[in-house]
Amino acid sequence: MKISVAAGMIEKQKTDGAVILLFEDEKPGAAAGRIDKALGGMIARLMKRGDFKPKPGGVHLLYPEGRIVAERLVLAGLGKRKDLDLNRLRQAAGKAAPHLRAAGARNIMIAADGLGSGAEETAQALTEGSVLGLYRFLKYKTKEENNNKEDVQAVTIVTESAASLKAMQKGAKTGEVIAGSTMMVRDMVSSPPVDMTPAIVAAKARETAREFGLKLQVLERSRMEKLGMGALLGVASGSAQPPKFIILEYRKGGGKPFIALVGKTITFDSGGISIKPSENMDKMKDDMSGGAAVLGALRTVAALKLPLNIVGLLPATENMPGGSAYKPGDVLRTLSGQTIEIINTDAEGRLILSDALAYACRYKPAVIVDIATLTGACRVALGQEAMGMLGTDDKLKQKIREAGEKTGERVWELPLWEGYYDQIKSDVADMKNAGGRDGGAITAAALLSRFVQDYPWVHLDIAATAWTEKDRPYTPKGATGIGVRLLTQFLRDYAASAK
Ligand code: BES
Ligand code: MN
Ligand code: ZN
Repeated sequence: MKISVAAGMIEKQKTDGAVILLFEDEKPGAAAGRIDKALGGMIARLMKRGDFKPKPGGVHLLYPEGRIVAERLVLAGLGKRKDLDLNRLRQAAGKAAPHLRAAGARNIMIAADGLGSGAEETAQALTEGSVLGLYRFLKYKTKEENNNKEDVQAVTIVTESAASLKAMQKGAKTGEVIAGSTMMVRDMVSSPPVDMTPAIVAAKARETAREFGLKLQVLERSRMEKLGMGALLGVASGSAQPPKFIILEYRKGGGKPFIALVGKTITFDSGGISIKPSENMDKMKDDMSGGAAVLGALRTVAALKLPLNIVGLLPATENMPGGSAYKPGDVLRTLSGQTIEIINTDAEGRLILSDALAYACRYKPAVIVDIATLTGACRVALGQEAMGMLGTDDKLKQKIREAGEKTGERVWELPLWEGYYDQIKSDVADMKNAGGRDGGAITAAALLSRFVQDYPWVHLDIAATAWTEKDRPYTPKGATGIGVRLLTQFLRDYAASAK
């Protein structure tokens, strides 16, 4: 898909489909006003009668039939002017673009003036919204009607302001990179687990590293044994697929300390010996969403050339039952030297992360952020509207929170009070890997906190948000690619504040 920015008046552009964005509490102004006039006041009439209410996410398709140049016209709602934010822009573009595609449009133009935010941010949001809203996972569809040929080929952001053109081009470029990384993550997460094994994740990381200039190292089982990654090896012991410990380094930050990103990369979580019920077990292919998000964030950062040093760590393995699988009652010796008693082999994410977090400490990082589909309990606590955030550093938490608000990938904090640690006390080892049903997202994070030493650390639980069963405005049902935009925004803000 080609993304571009054009200067001119939207009603004069030759396109399969024009999009204009409208406020609930304002008459059509500027471009929308001129189009309304060309259509004989039709838009104002539709709004007055209530046939089209410009609520957030509302869209309405019209056929101008020669009264403006565009073949089709979509009115997209933004809600009230005072409530406008970048997420509303993403939502409107994310609803309008697939609506036009369904009607037959193959190229789309969006009028981008008078939308409040700065020109650069506006163009970025409209690009992200439309590209992500148009996303489909078609790799395994063989029928003609699902062919990519029927997809949108070009999205053009249109501005009448010559002064805004440069900024909009920059924003659209940024949006294109970010959406591209998010789609890469969605593709990886949606892939069947047989086609997204630890070795294939490593190959994907290698391909990304080569294309974007990242340094890559993949530790094999023998190396993990020498290092003493007993937790990762324990989880991997039941799988026929060899585990991989993937290390990506991005170094454009001179002498600055590293930022460490750690992503849970369980390419399939059967639960192991504590096997999961078969209902919805297919969804456990999404258990590598955290690792994919870290890869996606590094891809973006490298493309945007941020002045930072970042290490991304992806502990990758399946969690499978079998004759050689680790068992409840086992005690694993982690890379940090601490021991963990296994109560439930389905609480495997915290185990592989314990070794990865300990490895992250070797970099003496400025901050550590981990992201993981860690607990079903997080969904019980927060539903699908926010990911869980727990951590040790208020400043870091605040930065993540702000990035969440800006991107719409919102986080909500859960407490890590001392009392919760009682639940992971073990009689035989330093701790146990499952702390019961109460506060399950918290006790999981409590275990992680034992492996980050005194480095500022935040954990993000995306178990509930990595996959959506229903279409959302710019997130079609399936893998959401969550985390890429949040981490990217956090890193861009971090780079800007460290200047
Ligand atoms: N990968 C799961 C968490 C998960 C659940 C992700 C639902 C996506 C959707 C994780 O490994 C897991 O199984 N967690 C257990 C922990 C329990 C055994 C302490 C859980 O949440 O039930
Ligand atoms: Mn599990
Ligand atoms: Zn898991």
